[in-house]
Amino acid sequence: MNPTLFDQLSALPTRYKQLTEAEMVTRIRDIKHELGDELLIPGHHYQRDEVIQFADVTGDSLQLAQICAQNRQAKHIVFCGVHFMAETADMLTTNAQTVYLPDMRAGCSMADMANMTQTTRAWEALTQLFGNTIVPLTYVNSTASIKAFVGQHGGACVTSSNAKKMVEWAFTQRTRLLFLPDQHLGRNTAFDLGIRLDQMAVWDPIHEKLRYEGNIADVRVILWQGHCSVHEGFQPWHIEHIRTHEPDMNIIVHPECSHEVVQAADDNGSTKYIIDTIAAAPSGSRWAIGTEMNLVKRLIAAHPDKHIISLNTNMCPCLTMNRIDLPHLLWALEMIVAGERGNVISVDAETTAQSLLALERMLQFAT
Ligand code: 13P
Ligand code: SF4
Repeated sequence: MNPTLFDQLSALPTRYKQLTEAEMVTRIRDIKHELGDELLIPGHHYQRDEVIQFADVTGDSLQLAQICAQNRQAKHIVFCGVHFMAETADMLTTNAQTVYLPDMRAGCSMADMANMTQTTRAWEALTQLFGNTIVPLTYVNSTASIKAFVGQHGGACVTSSNAKKMVEWAFTQRTRLLFLPDQHLGRNTAFDLGIRLDQMAVWDPIHEKLRYEGNIADVRVILWQGHCSVHEGFQPWHIEHIRTHEPDMNIIVHPECSHEVVQAADDNGSTKYIIDTIAAAPSGSRWAIGTEMNLVKRLIAAHPDKHIISLNTNMCPCLTMNRIDLPHLLWALEMIVAGERGNVISVDAETTAQSLLALERMLQFAT
């Protein structure tokens, strides 16, 4: 297959593949020193250790969005995370600040499960069915265009750490909500707030079909049929296995896991919540964690006094998060020093204005 123009433009130059780790570390350190406060490197908790060591701030999606919204010092923000996070950072920063993604191929497969054509068609069908009763909510794991659509239609963004507050807010606006693109976070959050499973329908964007078996008037939540392929790797039988063989093990999972997994676990929450819970747990306690592997490995290393395992021992890291590595980070930084505008994430002004409606509705409830 011939490489596309995008692949050619975003391909790491070969010279970076020939450097030793020590050379890259030294060069990154030097550039960080040279750029000082003009450079900000936010790092999501799922990033590799080799990248996290250079992050000025680490956090979950909400924390990183808040940090970018507050920072006005950094001219260059090299976002170590995935595409939707860098887009969000770009929209929350000023025009004098530039956001870079070290590898432009670091997307999120869940965010790609809702595109604009599908969303517009779903909205048409659903408003025909339910009239003006629906408020849209989108997980931040979505493209800027989807955020703009949601903002334009009176809705808001949510992250895994404020989803409950945002669903409560949505029900103060209208009687139904459409939750994009992660059906699991939507279902888990609505269920926690007392909405029954038989009050939730699923919108299948491929077949343009509402999947629901009861009386349509009873639907309160419409879940977009999207998911995270990493978190779908945790299955109820993993929990059953641990309960049978290691009954004293605590099980904590991310709410992107399926409803069955979240219900069977002892606790669930965002990456920050998982980190804080493990940190606060007593020495000697035993934990099985259902989230991305780079984070689980970091928690294992950080807490040698606790027994920590992955809920699925065959789990691998999020492949797209993992695309950001030392060579890509160094490449992004050297382009900045050379004055080249490479790997820039820039959302157009109209999309930004509409997305900000949704992001700001979220951020005002986020403190
Ligand atoms: P958090 O907001 O919990 O960090 O999660 C982001 C994400 O992409 C999880 O898959
Ligand atoms: Fe997307 Fe899942 Fe990776 Fe998070 S873990 S960035 S939701 S693919």
